[in-house]
Amino acid sequence: MKITVQDFLSKKQTRQKITMITAYDYPFARIVDEAGIDVILVGDSLAMVVQGLDNTLSATMDEMIYHAKMVSRASKNSIVIGDMPYLSYQVSLEDAVRNGGRFLKEAGAQAVKLEGGREVAGQIKAMTRSEILVMAHIGLTPQALHRMGGYKVQGRTEEAAKRLMEDAKILQDSGAFSLLLEAIPAELAAAITEELTIPTIGIGAGPHCDGQVLVIHDLLGLFEGFAPRFVKKYANLKDDAIIALRQYKEEVEKGIFPGKEHSF
Ligand code: KIV
Repeated sequence: MKITVQDFLSKKQTRQKITMITAYDYPFARIVDEAGIDVILVGDSLAMVVQGLDNTLSATMDEMIYHAKMVSRASKNSIVIGDMPYLSYQVSLEDAVRNGGRFLKEAGAQAVKLEGGREVAGQIKAMTRSEILVMAHIGLTPQALHRMGGYKVQGRTEEAAKRLMEDAKILQDSGAFSLLLEAIPAELAAAITEELTIPTIGIGAGPHCDGQVLVIHDLLGLFEGFAPRFVKKYANLKDDAIIALRQYKEEVEKGIFPGKEHSF
């Protein structure tokens, strides 16, 4: 049965951890859904792990909708969240509502995620007024890669930590239904999680968040780019795939495949 956003919210009250994983197409989303993961994020990390680009900045709304549609089609139980790509919400409140609404209207997502602190509070208010549920995302925000000078842990100084705590409260007050915390000290993530009534989802933010998220290609060992310290590889599917493909190549070359049982 489809998990509702209300089920998601109640997990914080009952102190049950929330699980979230990215997926970008039907077969992977089917696997995530069948594994019983609460939330599938159609992340703009798509640009890096699927399109092979260096950062997320070039992901477009049309690409995100195309992928979110496949994921929604596959998700019988998990909540689907569409990630708002760079420049789909920063320019105006109208853009934010129209583009956020596309994830619900065209792609069948239940909610959206966007990056930024107090500067996107207006967007979150406008979207929430238009019945678009928004997960906010602070700390390391990959769309701010150039301002941050790279993918660096955020909130390390007292001043930066104070600002992130203030942002978290502002985003909650603006209507965000949840907050993603990326690459911040575990102690700060714990304090934000304690302070907020909405669930926090961590990635590189320690064990005290209400839930955790990872990029599926990292978790399954399918991405060969740089893996940050917070990634745990639970499988080595790339290696397994190479073994299978080499065996296929050898069997075709030696005339072993196809056998009688594969022939008509
Ligand atoms: O785009 C994405 O996959 C994300 C995760 C890193 C949480 O935002």
